[in-house]
Amino acid sequence: RKPSGNHIKLENILLLNKLLVVTVATKETDGFTRFMKSAKHFNYSVKVLGRGEKWQGGDYMSAPGGGQKVRLLKAALDKMKDEDRIILFIDSYDVVFASGPKELLKKFQQAGHKVVFSSESLIWPDRHLQDKHPHVKEGNRFLGSGGFIGYVPNIREMVSDWTGEDDESDQLFFTKIYIDPAKRKSINITIDSKCRLFQNLNGALDEVVLKFEDGRVRARNVLYDTLSVVIHGNGPTKLQINYLGNYIPNTWTFETGCTVCHEDLRSLTSEYPLVVIGIFIQQPTPFVTVFFERLLKLQYPKNRLKLFIYNKVKLMQTIVSSFLQDHGNLYQDVKFIGPEEEMDGAAPRNLGFDMCRKDEDCDYFFSLDIEVVLKNENTLKILIEQNLPVIAPMITRAGRLWSNFWGALSADGYYARSEDYVDIVQGRREGVWNIPYVSSVYLVKASLLRSELSDFELFNSNNLDPDMAFCHNVRSKGIFMYVTNMQSFGRILSTENYQTNHLHNDLWQIFENPVDWEERYIHENYTRIMKDKLIETPCPDVYWFPIFTDVACNHLVEEMENFGQWSGGGNKDTRIQGGYENVPTIDIHMNQVNYEKEWQKFLLEYIAPVTEKMFPGYYTRAQFDLAFVVRYKPDEQPALRPHHDASTFTINIALNQVGLDFQGGGCRFLRYDCSITSPRKGWALMHPGRLTHYHEGLRVTEGVRYIAVSFVDP
Ligand SMILES: *[C@@H]1O[C@H](CO)[C@@H](O)[C@H](O)[C@H]1NC(C)=O
Ligand SMILES: *[C@@H]1O[C@H](CO)[C@@H](O)[C@H](O)[C@H]1NC(C)=O
Ligand SMILES: *[C@@H]1O[C@H](CO)[C@@H](O)[C@H](O)[C@H]1NC(C)=O
Repeated sequence: RKPSGNHIKLENILLLNKLLVVTVATKETDGFTRFMKSAKHFNYSVKVLGRGEKWQGGDYMSAPGGGQKVRLLKAALDKMKDEDRIILFIDSYDVVFASGPKELLKKFQQAGHKVVFSSESLIWPDRHLQDKHPHVKEGNRFLGSGGFIGYVPNIREMVSDWTGEDDESDQLFFTKIYIDPAKRKSINITIDSKCRLFQNLNGALDEVVLKFEDGRVRARNVLYDTLSVVIHGNGPTKLQINYLGNYIPNTWTFETGCTVCHEDLRSLTSEYPLVVIGIFIQQPTPFVTVFFERLLKLQYPKNRLKLFIYNKVKLMQTIVSSFLQDHGNLYQDVKFIGPEEEMDGAAPRNLGFDMCRKDEDCDYFFSLDIEVVLKNENTLKILIEQNLPVIAPMITRAGRLWSNFWGALSADGYYARSEDYVDIVQGRREGVWNIPYVSSVYLVKASLLRSELSDFELFNSNNLDPDMAFCHNVRSKGIFMYVTNMQSFGRILSTENYQTNHLHNDLWQIFENPVDWEERYIHENYTRIMKDKLIETPCPDVYWFPIFTDVACNHLVEEMENFGQWSGGGNKDTRIQGGYENVPTIDIHMNQVNYEKEWQKFLLEYIAPVTEKMFPGYYTRAQFDLAFVVRYKPDEQPALRPHHDASTFTINIALNQVGLDFQGGGCRFLRYDCSITSPRKGWALMHPGRLTHYHEGLRVTEGVRYIAVSFVDP
């Protein structure tokens, strides 16, 4: 004899076999695919009605409508023989399952009725019917037609009177049956007023919170303390009713997998999809040279790439032109639109997309704004492998909660923070996320541009910015956009406060874009000074360490030469009176080029830590009165006589290379009779200023030598 426990289980299994999910989908939208994935995940059997049929039930994005659903259900029920079958009839474009059939059936049985409808807190479409609705003890009072469950005979009876047109309201039809006491009783209908089976999100977003558990998500209704089995992202048409935001476990979206996998991409070079990369320069932006260096390093065969570059900014023109001149021919094709075209906003983006749309070889359009710092060289491959309609790599702004996607939309279609936005941005939750808005960098399938998104003016709108107009258009076609944070991809630059009145404006970016400033200008081995004892002591209490990149040295020198007002002996008088600089040099001071704030920040961030490490117990705020670039030249000022510095400590950075740019030069400390005769470009000497380190600048015999000197804590 079997124990009774097994008996119950067997009953459940029998019941499970009786359950059939029925939905209407005339088109396999992304929302439908998502629904089917969640159904498959929980092992529901699903019957899809209306496939390939023309959708008559009104624009599915903007109900009312839905009579077609009732007609199709009615026809399907007429053919169904099994009278004790249980039907779950639900929408699919904006629905996901949050749990399996067992829980659904248990809750259905507990409801004690033959048909259970989902419930709504708002009455729709006919407000005048409000008083006819029976009162409920607790919860929602109104019926929602987006989901119901019941036995075949009861549902058959319920839809038997349907004679409506395909575009009539199913919601009104079912509501009228429900508020008729006789029909309600004979068909035995109730509504799921506490959202135990169905959670409609319309008007309920405030009462629903996400609950993350073992790799899946449940939506908890905190008003009634329930976890529904079905989640329905219905809502006001203005807000795109098929949007479920992050009410989706990431596994379902991630399972889309790849059609072209990494290995394939590597071995079949000729088979790489053809990508048009659209690069948009809409405002003066720092580190554009670096952007193009990174573009060159993007891991993708260049003969499978075409470039569309739009540059609106005259100032950036030389950089773009020199990139195209040097490397343009590596790419299969290049289209360039310059500032003289005077295009604005939407126009260049429409054009770029159209370049891919009209090119029958084009498989993807990769939109890339100039302020994006794409650190991950495999980004393009990774995105293609996701095989999704529109997908963006998540990029953030260093140190801020900004990112290139929105987690949710507000009621008026603008930004709203989704429940898990912060967790996603900060990487505590990783996945591929369905989102309502992306910008700055994303990949679009070309096939979409030739079908649903074939409208040339995708970026145009009367009242929305181009990026918002684009996302609005994508959403309103029922196309899903995704962002992935499964890898780290990069960040976005701040283009605010970008001064453009210097030769090398990027030097001034230490405040606005400190991470990029550091990557560009701080020596790659700087971080190893302490860790790997990369610091040298060529003379007593003289420390020597790498600080600047070659680029930093070149930029500083070029900036000073560009400024050009080298001061000779005559200009020195004022400073001598100030009691500071008593040994005149040919130099330009940092404040002459408005660089003193940035220089102090540099000293504080990068020099002070070394100082405090090497001179324990000494704390510096890196104050200085004198910081300048000195030029040594045989026929100008070749050397500097012995002197003390007006500083507690001095920083002396070699800005060019002995043997290459000049001969001779160096520094000699007289007290120790110790010289540093082969100064290294980008390396700093740090030594006490007064008292002990009486020193001289050694003679430059050929070429020109530049050093950056700072008298710190005078
Ligand atoms: C679905 O069915 C498969 C095989 O029958 C089983 O391994 C899996 O655990 C089921 N999934 C769920 C969520 O019950
Ligand atoms: C509805 O059906 C249940 C059984 O599922 C029954 O107990 C209940 O009495 C019925 N209600 C009405 C009003 O017929
Ligand atoms: C950094 O250190 C490594 C190892 O010592 C060396 O090979 C490399 O050239 C250094 N980088 C620069 C820019 O000098």
